[in-house]
Amino acid sequence: MIESFYKSNNRDFTIVHGDCFDVLSQFDFKFDMVFADPPYFLSNGGISYQAGKVVCVDKGDWDKGGTAESIMEFNRNWLTLCREKLKDNGTIWISGTHHNIFSIANLLTELGYKILNVITWAKTNPPPNISCRFFTYSTEFILWARKSPKVPHKYNYELMKAINDGKQMTDVWRLSAILRWEKSCGKHPTQKPLALLSRIILASTNHNDWILDPFAGSSTTGIAANLCNRRFLGIEKEIEYVELSKRRRMEIDNEEVRCNYIKKLKDLSFIDDRLVIKEPPMEYGINELPF
Ligand SMILES: C[S@@+](CC[C@H](N)C(=O)[O-])C[C@H]1O[C@@H](n2cnc3c(N)ncnc32)[C@H](O)[C@@H]1O
Repeated sequence: MIESFYKSNNRDFTIVHGDCFDVLSQFDFKFDMVFADPPYFLSNGGISYQAGKVVCVDKGDWDKGGTAESIMEFNRNWLTLCREKLKDNGTIWISGTHHNIFSIANLLTELGYKILNVITWAKTNPPPNISCRFFTYSTEFILWARKSPKVPHKYNYELMKAINDGKQMTDVWRLSAILRWEKSCGKHPTQKPLALLSRIILASTNHNDWILDPFAGSSTTGIAANLCNRRFLGIEKEIEYVELSKRRRMEIDNEEVRCNYIKKLKDLSFIDDRLVIKEPPMEYGINELPF
């Protein structure tokens, strides 16, 4: 039986401590959107510069590489489970780098998804490249695909255009890498910026929609979802990140913190100022999830 580790008071945020392969195969529920930031399997002793010092960039045991075949199998399995959990008009977003994104794109097509876009996240403040033997890595990619080639998906075109000063939003997003204020409750080594997740969520979901993140980490997806009045289920296997997720969610129960976050997020504060008049967090009486 699945047990939630933490559920927010208004039931818009649930985090489960466990392995997503086990958890996803144990319940039946359909989501409007999935965001997945899977292990890139790159923690093999690499180094970088941080604050003038050479540091090891290993992220943790969860990111240690296997063989090409085992990584492919890992990705095929969770992509299959996530497809079963999507509504027919649902979409999935997957972040990655050149190391994993091409094989994931092939798997998406193999499994019956239809790729809609490949977003290039151009970081405005990328970390330096210390070897000076090739170009500094300053981008990550985010694949956007829908469950079914035939069923139309949600895309909030007008909103994206409005956020982009009245011009069509392109597939290149210039956004900063993670900022210090986003780590107020503790650190995750591969934490994604709230600005990135809130744009993804605003583009492809509506109020009250359900969003799943099978590799939740610090639950950036869940925090962005709740700031946008969407509902969230996250699954994370490392207890320290499940606890971090809980702290992050409890932090935005404070109205002042919540409003500050909204102010800092350009896309969200745009909505707050111009489209929606200060919506309070939603109250959900019924726990729709089966746990
Ligand atoms: C790339 S990080 C996600 C970071 C997240 N996007 C954030 O903003 O904090 C991937 C996470 O997946 C977790 N993970 C790896 N394998 C998992 C599995 N089989 N089930 C659940 N979580 C897993 C890791 O512990 C790690 O925290």
